[in-house]
Amino acid sequence: MSAPREQFSSKTGFVMAAAGSAIGLGNIWGFPTQTASNGGAAFVVIYFILAFVLAYPALMAELIIGRHARANVVTSLRHISNGKKSYALASGVGFYGVITASLILSFYAIVAGWMLAYLFESITQMLGWTQASEWLTGFGLQRNLIFMGLFMAMTMAIISSGIKGGIEKWSTRLMPMLLFIMIALTVYVMTQDGAMEGLRVYLLPDFSQINPGLILDAMGQAFFSLSLGVGTMLVYGSYLSKQDSLPKLGAAVTLVDSSIAFLAGLLIIPAIFVAQKNGVTVFTESGDMIAGPDLIFQVLPSLFDSMGDMGLIVAFAFFSLMSIAAVTSSISMLEVPVSYMTEETPASRHQSTLIVGLIIAAISAIILFNFNDLFGLVIDLTTVYSQPILGVLMCVFVGWIWHRNNLLEELKAGHDNIESTLFWKIWPNYVRFVCPALILATFIRAL
Ligand code: TRP
Repeated sequence: MSAPREQFSSKTGFVMAAAGSAIGLGNIWGFPTQTASNGGAAFVVIYFILAFVLAYPALMAELIIGRHARANVVTSLRHISNGKKSYALASGVGFYGVITASLILSFYAIVAGWMLAYLFESITQMLGWTQASEWLTGFGLQRNLIFMGLFMAMTMAIISSGIKGGIEKWSTRLMPMLLFIMIALTVYVMTQDGAMEGLRVYLLPDFSQINPGLILDAMGQAFFSLSLGVGTMLVYGSYLSKQDSLPKLGAAVTLVDSSIAFLAGLLIIPAIFVAQKNGVTVFTESGDMIAGPDLIFQVLPSLFDSMGDMGLIVAFAFFSLMSIAAVTSSISMLEVPVSYMTEETPASRHQSTLIVGLIIAAISAIILFNFNDLFGLVIDLTTVYSQPILGVLMCVFVGWIWHRNNLLEELKAGHDNIESTLFWKIWPNYVRFVCPALILATFIRAL
């Protein structure tokens, strides 16, 4: 059976791990492109408001359940249920979370594999290995399978080493590197011709662009970015010490995540305008900015090409940044099913990681073999439909099923005077009524 349950060794360790989960391709790719296609700074303002008034309370729900029950998502939800019906609901929601986390990883690993391939390509290009470069940047099935597998192997190696020796160790190593690379790249891009025009588009809000669609896009983005709904943050919360104040740690994670998203915008949007100045096509025929995979795998590489020798280094730095961001996020997805299997079956952490990792890699392979049919479908099923439904259900567990006194007791651990704080005055009712209502609104629109 399993050894005593591990914990993060410090607050910093937790914040690094949770920020590592939150900061991912969603921040560096999703946020800037959503901003570009939603009227620039107006989207940024709405995003920040929603991150704090909607995503933060939902994040708190997960952290509190996790730290209270000190278990994987299924067992934790069962633990706070109060009767046969809510126990059955807990099992359903828990397994739904486990499956959703696994499916999110199955498409994320494919995209992250592309980042790794482009990272290798920046090296083969320096070496002048043209054929290798062509293979690495061509959209071949073989390349896609190999790099998805490589990425999954990295993710599995970290998760297999546990909380302190795996998740915490790698997050505290990689997150400072991520920040350093990002700042260096931003400073470099700012010195290039055209960057100021991008900065203007990014920072001057056009509030006339705000419409229900924009608000709901911002909400979806905030949910994905804070890794909500599937039990990721619940499980990370379960490795927290009872001496830490949850509202403060949750706020720190939300702030770091939003700040990095903002910083990514300072890098990507000016870069798009620099690319345009250098003669790269950045708008589609219909006049929209190229935002999807073509932005990362065509517009930016063309920009790097146009920068001469310096471009080789910039490309290497950029795809390192993307790969680091991806791996500190993917480990948090894999931890959801692995913690369940380790705690609820006789399998050890190593065995669970191997079994679950191979199953997810097999699903990724199936997606790659049927790319046009499955890739978009799995993304929509998980992020557009399942994440909001699960988010509502987590809020329901905390707001309606769990006893208010127990909730207060859990919050008091690490935060003695919680009863007199604004947090305790607002949050419990907020998570009961406002969060589910707002999240449901997103979902109904998605339908
Ligand atoms: N937040 C990460 C990003 O922005 C992705 C992520 C990690 C995630 N864990 C998650 C998304 C769990 C949904 C659920 O890229």
